[in-house]
Amino acid sequence: MASKKADDDKPESNSSETLRVLVVHGPNLNLLGEREPEVYGRTRLADIDHELKQLGGELGIKVETFQSNSEGDIVTRIQKARGKVDALLINPAGYTHTSVAIRDAILALEVPAVEVHLSNVYRREPMRHHSTIADVAVARIMGFGAPGYALALRGVRALVETARRQRA
Ligand code: DQA
Repeated sequence: MASKKADDDKPESNSSETLRVLVVHGPNLNLLGEREPEVYGRTRLADIDHELKQLGGELGIKVETFQSNSEGDIVTRIQKARGKVDALLINPAGYTHTSVAIRDAILALEVPAVEVHLSNVYRREPMRHHSTIADVAVARIMGFGAPGYALALRGVRALVETARRQRA
């Protein structure tokens, strides 16, 4: 058995094994649960964030969440995460289809990013079929509604762990 002393010496939250994941929600997602429930479901954003943090606790992932209706604030939050997170989950919402700035911020972050959408955008209006981040995302999840976020968290964890094992 590893000695108690050795375990005590390990930093608790900054251990290199602890994954740090930033979750970013774009504009109008603060209205989840009320806004077009037939498209986006009835789960509120606070409940999605709570569930992600709980799942993170179970999986050894430190989950931080952020929502903004402002493109600049989203870019600034992603910039602040540079060197501090191992992965990004992002639903840029309406900015998915327009934002070069968010795409550039994701590239500058230099960690795997997963693009998440509640709805299957390909079953919707053609303007939603284009994503400025699709080709810089390591994976994309859409159409599962709120449960898609938990799938994305599990998926990105598997990807980062595999990459770590390959480096070791
Ligand atoms: C969305 C899809 C976008 O087209 C839309 O603008 C959103 C939400 C989704 O999660 O399905 O606000 O990103």
